[in-house]
Amino acid sequence: MAEVKKIAVIAGDGIGPEVVAEAEKVLKRTEELFGYRFETEHALFGGIAIDEKGTPLPQETLEVCQNADAVLLGAVGGPKWDSNPAELRPETGLLGIRKALGLFSNLRPAVVFDCLKDASTLKPEVLEGTDLIVVRELTGGIYFGEKYRRETENGQQAVDTCAYTVNEVERIVRQAFEIAQKRRKKLASVDKANVLESSRLWREVVIRVAADYPDVELEHVLVDNCAMQLLRRPSSFDVIVTENMFGDILSDEAAMLTGSIGMLSSASLGAGSFGLYEPVHGSAPDIAGQNLANPIATILSVALMLRMTFGYADAADSIEKAVAEVLDAGHRTSDIAVDKSSAIGTIAMGDLIVATM
Ligand code: NAI
Ligand code: MG
Repeated sequence: MAEVKKIAVIAGDGIGPEVVAEAEKVLKRTEELFGYRFETEHALFGGIAIDEKGTPLPQETLEVCQNADAVLLGAVGGPKWDSNPAELRPETGLLGIRKALGLFSNLRPAVVFDCLKDASTLKPEVLEGTDLIVVRELTGGIYFGEKYRRETENGQQAVDTCAYTVNEVERIVRQAFEIAQKRRKKLASVDKANVLESSRLWREVVIRVAADYPDVELEHVLVDNCAMQLLRRPSSFDVIVTENMFGDILSDEAAMLTGSIGMLSSASLGAGSFGLYEPVHGSAPDIAGQNLANPIATILSVALMLRMTFGYADAADSIEKAVAEVLDAGHRTSDIAVDKSSAIGTIAMGDLIVATM
């Protein structure tokens, strides 16, 4: 019998509970089909935790996550909490949980499903075969560097500092090489080494670490060029690794190759196999509680969890294939439907994927 894996489940706010419920059905089906065993524990987080516990990230929620092998998160936030002070905002909990769990990279796959090629703003022939993943550093760079203002002879000046240590670069670069080894063995390291000192250090580390991964084909791409190449030849990328701010921008650009936010999964990883998995979208208060949300982003996040944290590639394949088949058969939630009148709901989409696995 397979070892029991513990999963902390945080449904959150808005459409979070709706999409997470469908993802849990998929997890259950995985147990039946493959003999894996999961123990899920639900915890409060975000707006609902503010209402019930007075804080977005209660200590007991953190403990549930720390005792788990992986975390599945829906989404948090909503207009109800928007005017709260920072410590009582759901988004503050998001930053807090990543930090407390030591997560230093964010993975965003961008996969173009054949039958959804037309939904993108790019030409189908350019998108054909696109299946890439952006690995973004999460803890360093200009977002966390020293920032201040000062008076100068020319008036007030604002300063942001971009800082990286060798260790911060090395841990994420190794992780990206290892991810590439399990995929098509191609890594694009994105920097601005012609201008930035932090990028020159980044590139030095990449070149040194690459010696340990001779089977991975490495290219260095300047960030401005990468922004262009993502639109010109997206299918030629496999794994892209980059620092925090470049990754923030490039991962959103890559996301739009695929068309809809309701399809996008993500993972945040730390050392070892632990990871937090969540859809890229937010709590979508405009459609919450109406059985309208697309659960595929969350279901694909479960597939990512099975693949990355547990190494259950067979189960991950089965989920991803089922999603593709259900889409191929023409089933759509309204966010990805051309003809909205034939769109199906959240629950029906989850049921179809489970039945197809
Ligand atoms: P959003 O992603 O929640 O929604 C943007 C648009 O996409 C909306 O029109 C929504 O209906 C649609 N949409 C999103 N997910 C969908 C799905 N699964 N199926 C179909 N349509 C979907 O972003 P927005 O509106 O900027 O933020 C809403 C709330 O979510 C805010 O409180 C924000 O702070 C929070 N948020 C939370 C995130 C998280 O939990 N990681 C990430 C982004 C936003
Ligand atoms: Mg962003």
